[in-house]
Amino acid sequence: MIRDTTVLMNEKRVFKPSEEIKENALVKNWEAEIEKGKNLEKYWSEKAEQFEWFKKWDKVLDESNKPFYKWFLGGKINLAYNAVDRWIKSEKRNQVAIIYINERGEEKKITFYELYLAVNKLANALKNLGVKKGDIVSTYMPMCPELLIALLACTKIGAIHSVIYSGLSVGSLVERINETQVKVLFTADGTYRRGKVIDLKSIADEAVLQCPSVETIVVVNHTGTPIELSKLSGREIFYERLVEGEASYCEPEPMDSEDPLFILYTSGSTGKPKGVIHTTAGYMLGTATTLRYVFDIHEDDLFWCTGDIGWITGHSYVIYGPLLLGTTTVVYEGAPDYPDPGVWWKIVEKYGVTKFYTAPTAIRHLMRFGIRYTDLYNLESLRILGTVGEPINPEAWIWLYKNVGKERCPLMDTWWQTETGMHMISPLPVSDLKPGATALPLPGVDADVVDGKGNPVPVGKGGYLVIKKPWPAMFRNLHKNKERFKEIWSEFPGCIYNAGDMVRKDEDGYFWIQGRSDDVLKIAGHRIGTAEVESAFVSHPAVVEAAVIGRSDPIKGEIIKAFIILRGGYELKTKLIGELKKHVRHELGPVAVLGEIVQVDKLPKTRSGKIMHRILRAQEMGENLGDTSTLEE
Ligand code: WTA
Repeated sequence: MIRDTTVLMNEKRVFKPSEEIKENALVKNWEAEIEKGKNLEKYWSEKAEQFEWFKKWDKVLDESNKPFYKWFLGGKINLAYNAVDRWIKSEKRNQVAIIYINERGEEKKITFYELYLAVNKLANALKNLGVKKGDIVSTYMPMCPELLIALLACTKIGAIHSVIYSGLSVGSLVERINETQVKVLFTADGTYRRGKVIDLKSIADEAVLQCPSVETIVVVNHTGTPIELSKLSGREIFYERLVEGEASYCEPEPMDSEDPLFILYTSGSTGKPKGVIHTTAGYMLGTATTLRYVFDIHEDDLFWCTGDIGWITGHSYVIYGPLLLGTTTVVYEGAPDYPDPGVWWKIVEKYGVTKFYTAPTAIRHLMRFGIRYTDLYNLESLRILGTVGEPINPEAWIWLYKNVGKERCPLMDTWWQTETGMHMISPLPVSDLKPGATALPLPGVDADVVDGKGNPVPVGKGGYLVIKKPWPAMFRNLHKNKERFKEIWSEFPGCIYNAGDMVRKDEDGYFWIQGRSDDVLKIAGHRIGTAEVESAFVSHPAVVEAAVIGRSDPIKGEIIKAFIILRGGYELKTKLIGELKKHVRHELGPVAVLGEIVQVDKLPKTRSGKIMHRILRAQEMGENLGDTSTLEE
């Protein structure tokens, strides 16, 4: 869904930072910091000094085998060591590292020292299960402390994690597990969602029956629902049993800077989701540095990112960014409006959250309940706010800024992706803010707007968002798909990476993101490919062919509109619509929100048989169909 930013750019309000913000900010001069960032290697290597390296790097950036860029070559480092072990040697030893809170109001606080013990025990247990450096471990878990412990345990011993979002379903699990040939899978009995317990274990069980590579399923008894470990005889073990009696010290594995850290599947414009690979040192550096400067992290901060660890936002800013800075991170399991729409603000007040990072879709949802709930709680602890995942509309921006931030807290609209690993375009707390614009590329990041030939476009004109220079947290490859990886990096001359977004720059150089330029949808901030939804449709016996596009939605940003061709004998009546919705949901999980299903006789296609989504989108928006010369009919 492309939003019309020409209208938006008429939004002329500018919000300036207060004197207090300016005085306390780590970066006081935005322009000067951007200037410094132009010397990429110097800038990033200075920032890399923040970590404890087992061995310093020999070369900052190696561009000899493009697009397989390498950072901090020759360096040896370990993520878990830097995120946990390092702090127990300091005054942070007994500081709370993780505050876990759920929708029932239950909480669990874990100090850095307790986290250290838990990670070590699990790391040793994983070794005893035969997990070695380079092996892939999967998780299908709720937002709970054991998930963070599992990921840190993997990184401690050099295992690569592949997190599967707990909102995904059997089909997605089977696909991801089989593609990565995972031997160990972590899951839990269930997760809390709006007063119910969603049974994750049965979904995992159903999936594992189709995944012969899985040797061990580690089950966390999270909600206390009685479960029997019998179905998958011999392959299952409770988490508690697994770590029982394990030694509480584990030597961190010295990882090469470029050793893979994790795989995270994300949707592309064609085919199945792709396994994005991030490596160790660059990713650590990118997440820690951007968090530090964008959210201006100080010693006394309490950081809360509401994103799920199942996606990149949670990887980078629930777990790794905060812990690498020694900052307490809030892990919340539940919805933003249960038991009531004040639940988030209640948490901010109770714990004194200082930095709050969320998604525009959640804000648009909460806006509907007015300011009754934001007024009910004391939100004065808050200092900086942030959003991510989709364009934020000025109304939602202003609502958050005014009613949550009380016009005191700068709002950071951060643009980035699973592939970028870290924030790429964002204001800093000292920046002038414009509601709806993500401001400028961060220091050490070179992003621009170009036309289809790679030439810069004039002010106010739409173009492709591209990155022109390598950055430390850039993804390094796609799992088992090197060819597709190479294609992504070579689209425009002079630019290294095409992000797949459309954008306009205004006279101050501010970026106004318009939306995706490809066939990727953003539903409530979740990324999903039209190809995946289409293949879910055609796996139903009634459907011959399907084409889907995004339809704009006031809360979710966009939802799915499907055009389907039915097999003879079927009619699109209420019963079949219900069945199709259920079917797509079973295949893809609740992320695939279906707005409308329309029956058609034909779909617009190119002569080579590819569906022309562009035509369907233009028709939907009542626009000119554009160039139809490649259209078959
Ligand atoms: C979109 C999420 C506008 C964009 C971290 C991008 C945004 C995709 C913003 C990546 C923003 C993310 N303004 N659009 N501030 N942030 N996007 O991989 O289309 O789930 O390409 O990563 O989200 O989605 P992903």
